[in-house]
Amino acid sequence: MRIGVLTGGGDCPGLNAVIRAVVRKGVGVYGHEFVGYRDGWRGPLDGLTMELGVAQVRGILPRGGTILGSSRTNPFAVEGGVEQIRFNLHAAGIDALIAVGGEDTLGVATRLSELGVNVVGVPKTIDNDLNATDYTFGFDTAVNIAMEAIDRLHTTAESHHRALIVEVMGRHAGWIALHSGLAGGANVILIPEVRFSIERVCAYVESRFQSQYAPILVVSEGAQPEEGEMVTLEKGVDAFGHVRLGGIGEWLAGQIEHRTGKEARTTVLGHIQRGGTPTAFDRVLATRFGLHAIDAVQHGKWGSMVALQGAQIVTVPLSAATEKLKTVPPELYAEAEVFFG
Ligand code: F6P
Repeated sequence: MRIGVLTGGGDCPGLNAVIRAVVRKGVGVYGHEFVGYRDGWRGPLDGLTMELGVAQVRGILPRGGTILGSSRTNPFAVEGGVEQIRFNLHAAGIDALIAVGGEDTLGVATRLSELGVNVVGVPKTIDNDLNATDYTFGFDTAVNIAMEAIDRLHTTAESHHRALIVEVMGRHAGWIALHSGLAGGANVILIPEVRFSIERVCAYVESRFQSQYAPILVVSEGAQPEEGEMVTLEKGVDAFGHVRLGGIGEWLAGQIEHRTGKEARTTVLGHIQRGGTPTAFDRVLATRFGLHAIDAVQHGKWGSMVALQGAQIVTVPLSAATEKLKTVPPELYAEAEVFFG
């Protein structure tokens, strides 16, 4: 078979490990040929390809980012986009596509598959909010980066008797904040799933100062106060209609200073969480996803996605990944609340 591979949406550590595993097993075990599509759905849409064989995947296992490039291109938002993709796939002699992505990229894959394109999906996002898989690769790396930042902030917060806020990624799900906050011993964790009371947050800050320690607060970019809306950067929306978030950390610092009289500063981790080399966990998970994705192609499991369930890699319908978001359940958040204040 001649198989196209693409990576779409926000990049994350482990994408190259998937590409490598797909190609190594696809060529070595099944004798397939590959075409690399550049920059997510823009590749098949505009016929942007690159050579993709064993030589191109050598040495990429520990490298962050994606050798194929990525974008948030939505072919369904482009006039005649789907027809153009079909035409380009046919012209390039492509029998099947492996799409590695999050909710948006896999949403497109689901719709294309319903229209008869042979697609297999691989879930990825640092946010860990895709349904039907216990974990996505990239998440563990992001959590470790955020945890290290929190560890470092503890000491400077204590030296200066300041409240330090760490703003982490997570649009609609607070997995990164929850795990990094728990691992780093944060005194407050704020997530999009649970609206927070600014009075209670300030009470936690004050009680932490009373015990002679300086508070560390971890906040997801999508967290919202009980009264008010998500804080967004006024920079418009992307092709999937997402606004750019950011600014909740600064807002919190202002409120804390105003209400408690204590100094507060914010660190926004931003894309540092998405860059660089993947952890061992993410390399292994991404490699296993790649191996099982090429098996799914070999067995003609069109419209499916590989997923981690327990310790097993399974295939689930692509639509299961995107039908709802996997958010932090209240009982897990309650576990973390024991350490607040
Ligand atoms: O979807 C993954 C993610 O990292 C989100 O956590 C974040 O809101 C978004 O991407 C940022 O997107 P961009 O890199 O396009 O600004």
